[in-house]
Amino acid sequence: METPWWRDAVVYEIYVRSFADASGDGVGDLPGIRERLPYLKELGVDAVWLTPFYPSPMADGGYDVADYRDVDPLFGTLGDFEALVGDAHELGLRVIVDIVPNHSSDRHPWFRQGLRDRYVFADEPNNWQSTFGGPAWTQVADGSWYLHLFAPEQPDFNWRNPAVHQEFLDILRFWLDRGVDGFRIDVAMGLYKAEGLPDVQDQSFRSRSPVWGQPEVHGVYRAWREVLDSYPGERMAVGEVWTDSAEDLARYVRPDELQQSFNFAWLLAPWSPTAFKTVIDDTLAAVPFATWVLSNHDVVRHRTRYGTADPGTGLMRAKAALVTMLALPGSVYLYQGEELGLPEVEDLPPEARQDPVFARSNGKIPGRDGCRVPLPWTTGSPSYGFSRDGVAPWLPQPAEFAELSAERQSGDPESTLEFYRRALSCRRDLVRSIPYTLEWLPSPEGALFFTRGPLTCAINCGPDPVRLPPHETVLLASGPLDGDLLPPDTAAWMSGSPLPARRDDG
Ligand code: NOJ
Repeated sequence: METPWWRDAVVYEIYVRSFADASGDGVGDLPGIRERLPYLKELGVDAVWLTPFYPSPMADGGYDVADYRDVDPLFGTLGDFEALVGDAHELGLRVIVDIVPNHSSDRHPWFRQGLRDRYVFADEPNNWQSTFGGPAWTQVADGSWYLHLFAPEQPDFNWRNPAVHQEFLDILRFWLDRGVDGFRIDVAMGLYKAEGLPDVQDQSFRSRSPVWGQPEVHGVYRAWREVLDSYPGERMAVGEVWTDSAEDLARYVRPDELQQSFNFAWLLAPWSPTAFKTVIDDTLAAVPFATWVLSNHDVVRHRTRYGTADPGTGLMRAKAALVTMLALPGSVYLYQGEELGLPEVEDLPPEARQDPVFARSNGKIPGRDGCRVPLPWTTGSPSYGFSRDGVAPWLPQPAEFAELSAERQSGDPESTLEFYRRALSCRRDLVRSIPYTLEWLPSPEGALFFTRGPLTCAINCGPDPVRLPPHETVLLASGPLDGDLLPPDTAAWMSGSPLPARRDDG
């Protein structure tokens, strides 16, 4: 069988509100993305994942969907979506859309019409907590309560009602008919809740929780897989599965379920060679097709996460982690702006913050706005080219974005952007000609060395330089090397023996 496109794909997450604003209202939109597709092509990604752009009151940035079959006027029209897919395909880029099956908006017609059997209602609340803080239950006028694992504006669907099941099969077909190549499934381990809604006994064991990962959810993905497979062109789905065990993760990617599931273990791991090695071993042992991710729209950007007191170290580590991640078997999910080396914006004024997590924690938890600040495209203009001149972006951008703009970095060989372009191009040259498996090499203290056939990768997480493993040529490095020494916080790719000729697969 031919290797499916998604197995080694580099997928670029577009947080639609913050990518590029063509309409000039301060919020990113589909025409803005369309204009920037050539930038993504040049960056060297294979696919884009678009966060929700459906009609929504935006209580959770669009993850509160009021209509699953349309585009919010804030983001454009269905026609804009179709034009975007058309242009992306012409450039050889695949398009993955987000599907939100755990909950809708409280403005969804079913909830507004009071169709209670499609949501989870109870006479009395149990002890479940919302992921965003506070109780997971809200009372309505007649005294009963509805469940919302996220904000109160996001009531959870009752997946035990076949009408919900049918509705989502139909929604999948709606977008597949419009040419999407796949779906990213929001809160994929949610959907079903344990019968009887028992209290949570131990909040720390997700895989044994009555809230998450009920066995019935796998029936949903088996049905979805049948729909995906009934379309031509290797349509796929990747699940957002938060779980504390690699075995549990593996259940979502059985041969008749999802093709991929996100693997958050690397993103959660500290800067440590032993932690990285454990994550890599556990992942490769558990799932047939691995995925890797360092940042997304829900977590602190990895440059800042890895930054100790010194932001320069954070950027070096971020680049070293990328080089290592790109060498692993499987596919890679990048988050917009990491190619510019954007840091988390930690000092947003409280009045600008929009993440419900901030308000629900009474400002104690900053929330996720800091990784969602609109991208800087140009240096000279207001909003750094994100929006039209004179229009303020929906979140303020810090002055340091000027130096990090795509325009400023493009063409500068020392820039993070040019480094990403080189790294992705190097990976593209190799990825289909090296084995899917990985072998560890003996590594000095603080470092990790591994090979995939003719490719050798080395990362140094320790405080001292280490000698590179035997090699012929250095193909890629995340920072300057010192002769045969790999400095701290640096990673490199080497060819160990003559590499096979490049296979031109576009
Ligand atoms: C995960 C999404 O990535 C996040 O942004 C959202 O708040 C929750 N799911 C709820 O939909």
